[in-house]
Amino acid sequence: MTTEQAPAIRVQGISKSFKDLHVLRGVDFDVTPGTIFALLGSNGAGKTTLVRILSTLLKADAGTATVHGFDVAAKAGDVRESISLTGQFAAVDEILTGRENLVLVARLRHLPDPGAVADDLLARFSLTDAGGRRAGTYSGGMRRRLDIAMSLIGNPPIIFLDEPTTGLDPQARIEVWQTVKQLAQGGTTVLLTTQYLDEAEQLADRIAILHKGTIIQNGTLAELKALLPPAKVEYVEKQPSLEDVFLTLVGEPDPAEPQTTETSAAAAAGKESR
Ligand SMILES: Nc1ncnc2c1ncn2[C@@H]1O[C@H](COP(=O)(O)OP(=O)(O)O)[C@@H](O)[C@H]1O
Ligand SMILES: [Mg+2]
Repeated sequence: MTTEQAPAIRVQGISKSFKDLHVLRGVDFDVTPGTIFALLGSNGAGKTTLVRILSTLLKADAGTATVHGFDVAAKAGDVRESISLTGQFAAVDEILTGRENLVLVARLRHLPDPGAVADDLLARFSLTDAGGRRAGTYSGGMRRRLDIAMSLIGNPPIIFLDEPTTGLDPQARIEVWQTVKQLAQGGTTVLLTTQYLDEAEQLADRIAILHKGTIIQNGTLAELKALLPPAKVEYVEKQPSLEDVFLTLVGEPDPAEPQTTETSAAAAAGKESR
């Protein structure tokens, strides 16, 4: 036996263009099983494009990727059985109750006892009390939790969360963060994309920064912070935040330039939203 664990996800030289737009230009990274890996990038950086390639919805132009040991191009069916994908827009049916949504998915997946599966997930996601209510009455955080719960039916070992908290209020974001942490504690491998630095900082075991089509840095939060000079003593000692690291790596946004793929670092820098 080797001590090296096979990666849950391996991405090697993945490239993808849409006509003249070179979105991914050779992306490489590995994700260790049971960890949370954050793919951090500005709006338009190519995060969703990469997630769509890894979840077999889109073909790469070049490079290879394996998910749960299966090549995404050659073994798409096996990859799909090993993953779940939750997008930015929740797939919840608002007319149905939370419980009915879960039962429906469990039925679609031909599981033996859909009701028990639903009740178990409602409990795990602190939705037992709300389970009998129409999902349309749920708060944003509850709805996103239900969506993640639905994606876990069938126990996929790997879950992709594409911007799981975009559009949520702060309280709901914290609820979703707790859910994601619990998933990883239970052994699920999580690849999440985010444009929020604090989200990566809060959640991720490793953070990779996708910028201009490649991964420009990949490390633990401590490793990324170590890229900057040591903390300066001003009035109080201030550790660099991930935001400081990000801005140093991708450059300060130029407020005069319109936001395009090239300059949308401004969006991720969070200048506009604070
Ligand atoms: N199907 C497509 N056809 C043409 N351009 C696309 C398509 N999908 C994404 N793009 C472009 O590719 C770039 C990356 O998009 P995306 O992967 O959605 O970025 P992110 O998820 O990081 O915000 C954007 O400029 C987007 O407009
Ligand atoms: Mg996206």
